[in-house]
Amino acid sequence: TQLHEFIKSLPKAELHLHIEGSLEPEQMFEMARRNGIALPYSTVDDIRTAYAFGNLQEFLDLYYAGMSVLQTRQDFYDLTYAYLQRIHADNCRHVEIFFDAQAHTERGIAFADVIEGILNALEQGEADFGITSHLILSFLRHLSEEDAFKTLEQAEPYYDRLLGVGLDSSEMGHPPSKFERVFAKSNALGLKLFAHAGEEGPPIYVYEALDILKVDRIDHGNRSLEDDALVNRLVSEGMTLTVCPLSNLKLCVVDDLKNHPLKTMLDLGLAVTVNSDDPSYFGGYINDNYIRIADALDLSKDDIVKLVKNGFDGAYMSDARKCEVM
Ligand code: HPA
Ligand code: ZN
Repeated sequence: TQLHEFIKSLPKAELHLHIEGSLEPEQMFEMARRNGIALPYSTVDDIRTAYAFGNLQEFLDLYYAGMSVLQTRQDFYDLTYAYLQRIHADNCRHVEIFFDAQAHTERGIAFADVIEGILNALEQGEADFGITSHLILSFLRHLSEEDAFKTLEQAEPYYDRLLGVGLDSSEMGHPPSKFERVFAKSNALGLKLFAHAGEEGPPIYVYEALDILKVDRIDHGNRSLEDDALVNRLVSEGMTLTVCPLSNLKLCVVDDLKNHPLKTMLDLGLAVTVNSDDPSYFGGYINDNYIRIADALDLSKDDIVKLVKNGFDGAYMSDARKCEVM
């Protein structure tokens, strides 16, 4: 349709993307083959069939298992470069990506191999596709604060090449307050602060992310809608929420895209953006997310423009770069 073409034509920014969640089944087989790793699947279709999740944890179990094929610096490079090549086709011009360092270092992979593979691909992607990018070190919240501190220390040689730190993995039972000190330390180092909150967790987790972690963006934030005072605050602060429609559908945060709160959030004046989260696992990259949610909620051209603009406003880009792409 005309709206689909409009969406495809617009330059976009993506602010919520886990690079390990862009690992496509074909790539998983290729890396398993070259690294001599046995997979519990015999075909690409087997993998896609296995991607049926009842909640966040069911997804995370397969997500962490899948990334075990990532072994070498070249694997991290190839993973990242393939993602950039893919979103170039979606006219995505700027990305801020998370990586889950602890999910690799706990398997014995060197931190340097992980981050240098990713950073080298980001650099090459800018040269080849003109996509600007930032990298965010995301702490796994099911692990201890001490483990997060250790990971922050490992990142020391790269502080000037990191935009900030994030917080992801199993939300329930792991409130933002668990990471108060490591976020304070990250802030003192000049890093930006991001946290997943209100995906499965209650509104109080969003308050904690704001008040205790002092985050610069909220990832997901859907459940903020259960608390009017919280909504008012997020609106008045202009806090960016990085919403991920197909992720919400696949993880049963919503039962149907027609019941997704994105349009309500927009109408309330929340600074919502559209993102893909883990595109390989959730069945779509950034344009698919825009198109599927636009169709389900009957979004207008103005809605789409607002969402795209929110993406650039919530991004860490120079004004000159914004002018160039928008
Ligand atoms: N939520 C929490 N942890 C994650 C996600 C998510 O959507 N994707 C990858 N790790
Ligand atoms: Zn996420």
